[in-house]
Amino acid sequence: MESEKKRVLFICLGNICRSPIAHAIFEHLVKENGTSDKWEVDSAAIGEWHVGKQPDRRALKVLKENGIDFRHAVRQITQDDFDKFDYIFGMDHMNMSDLEELNGSRKSKAKVEMLGKYDPENVLVIPDPYYDTQAEFYPVYAQCYRCCKAFLKSFQ
Ligand code: 4NP
Repeated sequence: MESEKKRVLFICLGNICRSPIAHAIFEHLVKENGTSDKWEVDSAAIGEWHVGKQPDRRALKVLKENGIDFRHAVRQITQDDFDKFDYIFGMDHMNMSDLEELNGSRKSKAKVEMLGKYDPENVLVIPDPYYDTQAEFYPVYAQCYRCCKAFLKSFQ
């Protein structure tokens, strides 16, 4: 039933590199394990710079190389997201302090955590690859994959 769905929102600064990678991976994993009807998955930006655009071509390339075709129009996080989603995942400490500032002192439904908290290899920060080359998108993909897999496993 719709109301039983768990809602997960992946956040990063621009919503063109890290959070769309995590979003695409998580959607892929729930499809793969046959539970996509139990999840609502989305991603969003802290900043407004890329709203309406598709993810960075380097992010789409690493996804495609891993068998994931993905399209997503960038959007900016809203205050309502803190009450709509059950989990909001940031990628680095700056994301976390921005999220804290955006939500203010309101008590919200969402559990706001760093995605890296779920990494079985204990790498907490998923670094911003935007100013780097394609090469830096591969470890970002691997980190997001490990974390998404472990987070999903925690429900099984
Ligand atoms: P993301 O990377 O937060 O992983 O999507 C960035 C994308 C764009 C910018 C910064 C980080 N930017 O400054 O435009």
